[in-house]
Amino acid sequence: MAKWALITGATSGIGWATSLALAGQGFSILATGRRQEKLQELEKEIKSKFPGVSVKLAQFDVSDRFEVSEFLNSHQTEISQVEVLVNNAGLAKGTDKMQESSLDDWETMIDTNIKGLLFMTRGVIEHMVRKNSGHVVNLGSVAGRWTYPGGGVYCATKFAVRALSEGLRMDLLGSKIRVTNIEPGMVSTEFSMVRFNDQAKADKVYEGMTPLQASDIAETIAWCVARPAHVNIQELVIYPTDQAHVGQVARHGKV
Ligand SMILES: NC(=O)c1ccc[n+]([C@@H]2O[C@H](COP(=O)([O-])OP(=O)(O)OC[C@H]3O[C@@H](n4cnc5c(N)ncnc54)[C@H](OP(=O)(O)O)[C@@H]3O)[C@@H](O)[C@H]2O)c1
Repeated sequence: MAKWALITGATSGIGWATSLALAGQGFSILATGRRQEKLQELEKEIKSKFPGVSVKLAQFDVSDRFEVSEFLNSHQTEISQVEVLVNNAGLAKGTDKMQESSLDDWETMIDTNIKGLLFMTRGVIEHMVRKNSGHVVNLGSVAGRWTYPGGGVYCATKFAVRALSEGLRMDLLGSKIRVTNIEPGMVSTEFSMVRFNDQAKADKVYEGMTPLQASDIAETIAWCVARPAHVNIQELVIYPTDQAHVGQVARHGKV
């Protein structure tokens, strides 16, 4: 039977790199996101690097309960064989003070980072429970442990991811299903562009420092997945060397 890895937010950054890393471990890849052309590009790259690996694509919005449900219903064969679910789709919007923030931005973050993760998890774990195996990898963040100014709501969504990872681990205790919460610091992806919708502001985030790359996080996820079945890496905080803490970054001038 094929072993599927289902990756949300596979059209960019960490999700894209994780799809490649898990394809490299021989998983069949079920890659999801909202941008169909990016999914098709990813499929091409996986197939050229790992010929023989099966790839399926699904375009939908994780924050839309009905789209998620339609996706789950129309991919029952693969969903019932999902060995690894990577709940990666997520985003931050803006850094305004809470008293000045947009309600739309709050809703987008909460709907995607919390509700999207829950909708996907609920749909997949019932199959994992039935076969008594599987691994849920959630993309939390250092923002899920420490808050910073202008990040209150994004941080709250990632604190939620931490709580949900813990709660799920407790509810699944006694099964062979593992739950891992990966908590990166600064990673250079489309994340800051999505947050600011401004290339100059996005570039400034990483100015003079060396951020993590998506592949650094993907390799870590692949390593967690490849541990023996009795080993569950519960949580991992990963910072770039140039970042000591949220908001504490070494800038080395022009590099
Ligand atoms: N970059 C960082 O510094 C950092 C640090 C800690 C944690 N993280 C977390 O890591 C995860 C991946 O972020 P990234 O850095 O790789 O950012 P990214 O390059 O912007 O990728 C985000 C992915 O999420 C998908 N996505 C967003 N909203 C979605 C929705 N409603 N439905 C389906 N897919 C959606 C996007 O795809 P579409 O636009 O095609 O839908 C994209 O593939 C996020 O959960 C983020 O919070 C990032």
